Amino acid sequence: MRTLIFIVLIVATGAAFGQYSIIPQPVSMHVKPGVFTLDENVEIVSKEACVKEARMFVAWLNSATGGRFEVVPAETWQYSKPFILFASEDAKSIGELKATPGVNPRYLEMMEKTPGGAYTLSMDERGMTVTGTDPKGVFYGIQTLMQMFPVNAYSGEMRLPYQFTNVIIKDQPKFAHRGLLLDCCRHFMTVDFIKRYIDHLAYYKMNVLHWHLTEDQGWRIEIEKYPRLTEVGAWRINADGKKYGGYYTKAQIRDIVQYANARHITIIPEIEMPGHSVAAIAAYHHLGCTKEHIPVEHEWGVFKDIYCAGNDSTFQFLEDVLTEVCELFPGPYIHIGGDEAPKYRWEHCDKCQARIAAEGLKNEAQLQTYFIERIAKFLETKGKRIIGWDEILEGGIPASAAVQSWRGVEGGIEAAKHGHNVVMSPTSHCYFDYGLESIDTEKVYSFDPIPADLEAAYRSYILGAECNMWTERAPQEEVDDRLFPRMPALAEVLWSYNPSRQYIEFERRLGAHYKIWDRMNIRYGFATVPLKFSTSITQDKKIAVEAVKTPADLKLVLVEGKSSKSWEGKLVAAENTTLEVKAISPSGKEFKKSFVLKLAVHQALGIRAQMNYEPSKYYTGGGEGALTDGVMGSNNFRDGHWQAKTGQDLQATIDFGKEITFTKAGSNFFHYANAWIFRPEELIIEYSSDGKVWKEWATIPAPIEPSQSGELPLEYFTTKSAPTTARYIRFTALTIGPCPTWHDAVGEPSWIFWDEVVVE
Ligand code: ACM
Ligand code: ZN
Repeated sequence: MRTLIFIVLIVATGAAFGQYSIIPQPVSMHVKPGVFTLDENVEIVSKEACVKEARMFVAWLNSATGGRFEVVPAETWQYSKPFILFASEDAKSIGELKATPGVNPRYLEMMEKTPGGAYTLSMDERGMTVTGTDPKGVFYGIQTLMQMFPVNAYSGEMRLPYQFTNVIIKDQPKFAHRGLLLDCCRHFMTVDFIKRYIDHLAYYKMNVLHWHLTEDQGWRIEIEKYPRLTEVGAWRINADGKKYGGYYTKAQIRDIVQYANARHITIIPEIEMPGHSVAAIAAYHHLGCTKEHIPVEHEWGVFKDIYCAGNDSTFQFLEDVLTEVCELFPGPYIHIGGDEAPKYRWEHCDKCQARIAAEGLKNEAQLQTYFIERIAKFLETKGKRIIGWDEILEGGIPASAAVQSWRGVEGGIEAAKHGHNVVMSPTSHCYFDYGLESIDTEKVYSFDPIPADLEAAYRSYILGAECNMWTERAPQEEVDDRLFPRMPALAEVLWSYNPSRQYIEFERRLGAHYKIWDRMNIRYGFATVPLKFSTSITQDKKIAVEAVKTPADLKLVLVEGKSSKSWEGKLVAAENTTLEVKAISPSGKEFKKSFVLKLAVHQALGIRAQMNYEPSKYYTGGGEGALTDGVMGSNNFRDGHWQAKTGQDLQATIDFGKEITFTKAGSNFFHYANAWIFRPEELIIEYSSDGKVWKEWATIPAPIEPSQSGELPLEYFTTKSAPTTARYIRFTALTIGPCPTWHDAVGEPSWIFWDEVVVE
């Protein structure tokens, strides 16, 4: 009876009972009595099928321990000493299966969607055995085994003998596609850095590196037939006047592909089309609609110069490029991008319009479909299939195409319903270039790649998910900070997919991994935003601030000019105040940015504004009281304080309930033209005693031109010496209308972002 209860408990709580902190959590892990002792006498034995994996383990083991282990072939093994045994059957490749007469195509299809990689890791006093269903399974078993080693193995300081608590682990992945996108275009990453990430991916049992190789801001892959792509297209002049860039030679790419392959990682290269192609057009002007000479782009955004779809030489170019790409990358998919392609140039291009007429197409959206289908057909002749961002669904896509859903999961749902394979990477959970304010580790861990409302019949089309590491704001040295610990969290979702997963339990295992990352020099970030401010308005119209800390023993430092002092986390502001606080973890790690809270104490505080609009659900500014809560939006438009709306003038009316006098009024606006956020043309401030008859108090013109670059919070305020009496004050911000003709998103609705209507 006692034994029975013991077993039931272990099954129920999994790894929590063992001393091992495995990420992703294995399907099952049971602690067994006794220990296995690793010392110099242990033989590392491998069957031929997985000897490459065994050799990689031995190389790691020797670096961890300073040992001189070697691989003993299982076929000649004497079985006289303690051992670590690796065993698997040969993996039959899909290619081999396809070439075998009589193989049922249904079976082939099933094989493509089956992740493979199952393993059992079992130990007793005599030895450890890692058995895989294929060499990939052994490889994953080895990753688990490495995570069972003490942390000093990661700095080469492990000393033998060492005792492992015996366990038996059975494990296999849930999703076949477990990926990371690295954008090496906005910022370049070195070959060593990419290999390091391949190691990190492997360690967390991820199996796809989506390599974003072409962009507006840089072409990063050597193409022999078109040398200007890398001579010209790989280099841009940044705003500071400095030349920036780089590219990968074919030899480097072959080396990386081989390195990934040895770690059971498939690389999907992304060659963007028809949009995000400014660097290619800068190298070969005839590829664009206007044939004008344009430079490689140095700003971030979406740009209207895209490949001309009317010109056959564009397709000749892309086919030549893709031919060389297919030779380099053995995987089944080529990513062709397809996202964010403004149609403005096509609308004004004779050749594109002639193509629309000749092909009997309805519009530019169908011209994009024509473009993608033509490329997909070409790639089929090379034995490849396309995957593209969810925009490729607009207007219909080839049957064999897979879709990567990024603008939410809706594109993925639609694609699955039409029988297309789907990779999920919605901005809501998978964009790790976003700050922790919008996507923290717990949110990532809660992600379900299978949307709840997707009917069971279509679920098998969801191949998995990717975390997207776009690098506009993350040069190589920032990438660790964005990906750790969020990437391991997504890895666990995709591998384990435990419906009853508990973040708190994952966090416990993360604790051990932080120590490993310290030894591996991974410059990981925080799991969540460590500090939030909770504010409330007091009876006497002051603002009470309280720091909400994660973890609770976070240390806070208040910065005051050049000096700073430790801060308890409470304050009542009776006047306009700007707080700057640094957050330091209990282990002494300082959060990268300091936290700035800008408070405005004014007469409208706490009075609900009447608005003429419903704010965007993405930018509510914190809900109903956002415009009069005393907390001002910061220089990050995603900070949760800015309230925003597209396509209209914004109006907010304050009813003070009685006559007041005031001398100063205004509001703050955000301007960031590249993100389609424009400062208003004017802010009109009016006042009234009855809410019916209004008088103008001030009209404040825009302080900058709409084309001004940069991310700018702007003040629209007026102060008068003589006080004005009023019960109502009305603020009207006038939109510039759709994005102007010079803008790359010409004609699209623009945004107004504002926060806090202030009356003093
Ligand atoms: C994307 O983020 N434009 C795919
Ligand atoms: Zn054209």
